[in-house]
Amino acid sequence: AGEWILMVTAQTPTNIAVIKYWGKRDESLILPVNDSISVTLDPEHLCTTTTVAVSPSFEQDRMWLNGKEISLSGGRFQSCLREIRARATDVENKEKGIKISKKDWEKLHVHISSFNNFPTAAGLASSAAGFACLVFSLAKLMNVKEDHSQLSAIARQGSGSACRSLYGGFVKWIMGKEENGSDSLAVQLADEKHWGELVIIIAVVSSRQKETSSTSGMRESVETSLLLQHRAKEVVPKRTVKMEEAIQNRDFASFAGLTCADSNQFHAVCLDTCPPIFYMNDTSHRIISCVEKWNRSEEAPQVAYTFDAGPNAVLIARNRKAASLLLQRLLYYFPPNADTDMNSYVLGDKSILK
Ligand code: PMV
Repeated sequence: AGEWILMVTAQTPTNIAVIKYWGKRDESLILPVNDSISVTLDPEHLCTTTTVAVSPSFEQDRMWLNGKEISLSGGRFQSCLREIRARATDVENKEKGIKISKKDWEKLHVHISSFNNFPTAAGLASSAAGFACLVFSLAKLMNVKEDHSQLSAIARQGSGSACRSLYGGFVKWIMGKEENGSDSLAVQLADEKHWGELVIIIAVVSSRQKETSSTSGMRESVETSLLLQHRAKEVVPKRTVKMEEAIQNRDFASFAGLTCADSNQFHAVCLDTCPPIFYMNDTSHRIISCVEKWNRSEEAPQVAYTFDAGPNAVLIARNRKAASLLLQRLLYYFPPNADTDMNSYVLGDKSILK
């Protein structure tokens, strides 16, 4: 056969958990200690774009992230590649005269090039978009017939939160019961049109890489935090039921209350870990106070906040009016590049004030 190359490009947005995943019951399969619920962001911003290519001239699997070659030898990449390859089916491209049989995929190598349009590992869930996109684009390339939920169980083995990025809108990662992880997967609770008036603003407090990776942070919390045990057994099961109701009914007061409480409990678990983990900084705390004060001064909450494994605030406003008032307040109290360590604000698909 002559030289040929076959390529697929896909784009996957990141997702932000409103009920957090924190703690694994199985580290190698990435099985969580509780269910989690997230909102998938607009695909226009905070997304990963991945191109995967296959050619008989490729001698090994290789990957580039933001233009720099990275190693694929880690167990997580290997799990995703192995699981997708195992499900590859025949591919025929008549235009190029290419025919790849199911068996050929075992010998063929892939090249993967991935770009994030946001800072990597700064608590903006870059691995979520990254692994979801990797699995999705490889599945397309190899003509994998599995549905999104089944693909989510593969993306989960790259990064837990990645399983939730296979769907848009509101998504639940069901922790599952099986030891092999087959039922630990994502399902869509409501699509992106369901609650269209919500507006998400991200305050990029710091774009530096976080100090404690989520993997080691979770391990330390599971080993040392009693609050984590209580949270997983007693709090999250009830909270997810309430959160699903709030989403179905577009009940913002309940949604905001649950979102803020869950973010705060996740960071309390981090403090309860030995040694304690600090993901938020002074600016994060000041943003929380600012939102809490404002919500209390109104008849009903206007904004919900949530923070992942980093200091950046994800703010969810009930509608456009609340979002524009929020942005005014943020710019007043936290002007970028002044004495705050604020970098920029990201709203919709626009980056405001670098
Ligand atoms: O999937 P990971 O290992 O990046 O962990 C993500 C953990 C949080 O972002 C803090 C919470 C979540 O549910 O996304």
